[in-house]
Amino acid sequence: MSYYKIENLEQYFKHYNKSIREPRKFWGKIAEEHFVWYQNWEKVVDFNMAEADVKWFVDGKLNIVKNCIDRHLAKRGTKTAILFEPNNPDEEAQHISYNELHSRVCKMANIYKDLGVKKGDRVCIYMPMIPELAVATLACARIGAIHSVVFAGFSSAALAARINDAGCKLVVTSDGGFRGNKTINLKEIVDEALKSNDTVERVIVAKRTHTSVNMTDGRDIWLDDLWADASDNHVAEIMDSEDPLFILYTSGSTGKPKGMVHTTAGYMVYTAYTFKNIFNYEENDIFWCTADLGWITGHSYILYGPLLNGATTVMFEGIPTFPDPSRFWQVIEKHKITQFYTAPTAIRSLAKESLDYVQKFPLSSLKVIGSVGEPINEEAWHWFNDHVGGKRCPLVDTWWQTETGGIMISPIAFVTPTKPTYATLPLPGIQPVLMDEKRNEIDGNQVVGSLCIKFPWPAIARTIWGDHERYKKTYFSTFPGKYFTGDGALRDEVGYYRITGRVDDVVIVSGHNLGTAPIEDAINEHPAVAESAIVGFPHDIKGNALYGFVILKEEGMTRNHDNLRNEINQVVASQIGPIAKLDKIQFVSGLPKTRSGKIMRRILRKIAENNDADFGDITTLLNPEVVDEIKKGKL
Ligand code: PRX
Repeated sequence: MSYYKIENLEQYFKHYNKSIREPRKFWGKIAEEHFVWYQNWEKVVDFNMAEADVKWFVDGKLNIVKNCIDRHLAKRGTKTAILFEPNNPDEEAQHISYNELHSRVCKMANIYKDLGVKKGDRVCIYMPMIPELAVATLACARIGAIHSVVFAGFSSAALAARINDAGCKLVVTSDGGFRGNKTINLKEIVDEALKSNDTVERVIVAKRTHTSVNMTDGRDIWLDDLWADASDNHVAEIMDSEDPLFILYTSGSTGKPKGMVHTTAGYMVYTAYTFKNIFNYEENDIFWCTADLGWITGHSYILYGPLLNGATTVMFEGIPTFPDPSRFWQVIEKHKITQFYTAPTAIRSLAKESLDYVQKFPLSSLKVIGSVGEPINEEAWHWFNDHVGGKRCPLVDTWWQTETGGIMISPIAFVTPTKPTYATLPLPGIQPVLMDEKRNEIDGNQVVGSLCIKFPWPAIARTIWGDHERYKKTYFSTFPGKYFTGDGALRDEVGYYRITGRVDDVVIVSGHNLGTAPIEDAINEHPAVAESAIVGFPHDIKGNALYGFVILKEEGMTRNHDNLRNEINQVVASQIGPIAKLDKIQFVSGLPKTRSGKIMRRILRKIAENNDADFGDITTLLNPEVVDEIKKGKL
């Protein structure tokens, strides 16, 4: 019997129970039957949760790209692997076959090798959503270099921090990128980022916008020039199961971004398995995930999960509202998309437009629709389900994180009955638990608590790049021996999970994880700012928006407040990126603090949310008088 595909609910429970009772047999069998290995593993899993030490398929040897591409060539060589839909609908879509992808990835792998990139070296990839991005990423994995893809919406300062943290040797970028009717000068941003760097030896530049850029002699090279002479003959490097595959940065509630490290074999097995089941993937499907490759959703469900299954995966360069808000629906119709996976923020922004935009299109090719990135509210769920899914496509609300590598709690299409706003049941191998404030596991149903996972799964991140202590402290110390997600959840009467949101100082804005601390650090760099505190508040489209409470230095007090607000947002945009701009900035004379000097964010959160009915116990505040002042000045 095979465990790779779950056919119905009864089988889900069977497989689930097997995966909990005998995880080694369960994952071992899947790994053996559905992937190619240079050498089998000695042990399926080895772990010590207290030390945050997890290994899967110990001592196995493989190459993930060989599994994504080479092994499909005999059967699927001419099948489209990547379907590229450009930003401009008048530009022709590109169908890149498995044969062609193989040839391009091999060429890029040889280019890297010729530039001296070796197994274990870090390569930063900062590119728009064009096929070269996928090729550059896969070519790293093919030679065993560790890719660090940075979302091309990040500022030069944020990019610099990521390149420096990982000690990248090479950067791959493009002259620019198209987004809607804008052109973004990516190469300029890279140049700026590299001013404070001494590890990068070379910068490869792909052409996309054909804008003129500065090329630094001896450092920058056009991809086109390298391409002409590159051989497409390349044997995939032999990698150990636990060799790092990539680093992907995610915001923390404190300090600098965390470079989550994912390794090879476990990530491969888990992303392939979850893709196949959750989206009910079948051979001739055309799968479209609208994320950017710069996020984990893009890594796992644009690139690796689909290619590991020999699927056709869509790469979309544009945005949902260009040239008009029917773009998504047009693309679904044009390419006869079967699975459509997007984010609540996109759904909400399209739901506010006229229904005509979506109703013009039958969308009858769709069979599964999915949501990811933040809790999906009831209204958005129904709009998506009714108008896009036509009430006939299962809507899979998939809960997971950069750290988890793959989807953890989600309906399985055509298997799990859905329930609006519920991520429903854990995937096989996933053991969620809810914890109370006293750090005890909460038994039974109809309960609420902090969401932890009590057994390792194959795709869990193994560490934070260069800082294992931080990894241990962030994820394994709050509830010793368990992985703490940072999310709160409830479990309903039948055991379905609903994720209620972050319980730490991370705010999810338009599906992007933003730690409040790095934004506060950025704001505090403005010369007129003395101190600041950021909280999230509900926003119709973005899910949450940011509200900043800012104390000015004396020289700031006499300045025009609107100008100051703009300047502060400029600093935030340049330090982090435009996605982190604040919707509201209120100038205050003080921030509510405990006697130990900690800002009481729960009070600020309530004020920002317009919920001042109950501040709870504020007797421990050093300066309770400031609360009334802040309330009065609320924006
Ligand atoms: O709070 C949860 C929310 O997004 C966080 C993870 O963000 P990130 O690492 O950027 O990864 C996003 C894409 C996987 C989680 O801790 N989140 C993600 N998906 C959902 C969600 N919250 C509720 N429902 C979801 N389906």
